[in-house]
Amino acid sequence: MNILSPSILAADFARLGEQIKAAEKAGAEYVHIDVMDGLFVPSISFGMPIVRSVRQITDTVLDVHLMIQQPERYIEEFAECGADIITFHLEATQNPQAVIDLIHQKGLKAGMSIKPTTPADEVKPYLDTVDMILVMTVEPGFGGQLYIEASTQKIKDVRELIQQTGREIDVQVDGGIHVGNLKKVLDAGANVIVAGSAIYKGDVAQNVADFKTVMKAE
Ligand code: DX5
Ligand code: ZN
Repeated sequence: MNILSPSILAADFARLGEQIKAAEKAGAEYVHIDVMDGLFVPSISFGMPIVRSVRQITDTVLDVHLMIQQPERYIEEFAECGADIITFHLEATQNPQAVIDLIHQKGLKAGMSIKPTTPADEVKPYLDTVDMILVMTVEPGFGGQLYIEASTQKIKDVRELIQQTGREIDVQVDGGIHVGNLKKVLDAGANVIVAGSAIYKGDVAQNVADFKTVMKAE
């Protein structure tokens, strides 16, 4: 199933609840929440209080993307704040399997993300347990960047590795996605689409509708 996960990083935080509701009403399935620590990535976004507040206004799946060093330190807290899916970076921890296990122990879905320079093969050891692979299609850290073209092949490679396991694992893409390159990433094998600027800049409901039209045609 194709899923749209609008990233609130591009939202107007003074009107966050309203904007999330607009995306939800227009048919967005998830809320993508980008947590940045200023270490794993240069920027700092927001943390637990935002997740907690968003949880209070929606039953939609909260898709939390941790761009933080040593994510194992915070899994429990994000779970308690109301996350449904926690995605961490393979590059950010010494023991990725322990992080997956910790997320599962909390009863949540576990996603693992790889940066543009990390080869697809590196996710292989975790495909028996992980629920989602996030292929970053820009260097993590900022919204509004351009899609890295080499990502298309990587999405295909990850989807191929997943097919070999026979397990159902989602492939998420994040960074520089817009209606113009959406079909390309879907055809390559992505099924969970993150978009920040392309959803939250301009008319949110219309943007979601435009994305959904392409996603349904697939
Ligand atoms: C980037 C974040 C993304 C970001 C995407 O590090 O992980 O989720 O919000 O923003 P756009 O869609 O504007 O590239
Ligand atoms: Zn993200």
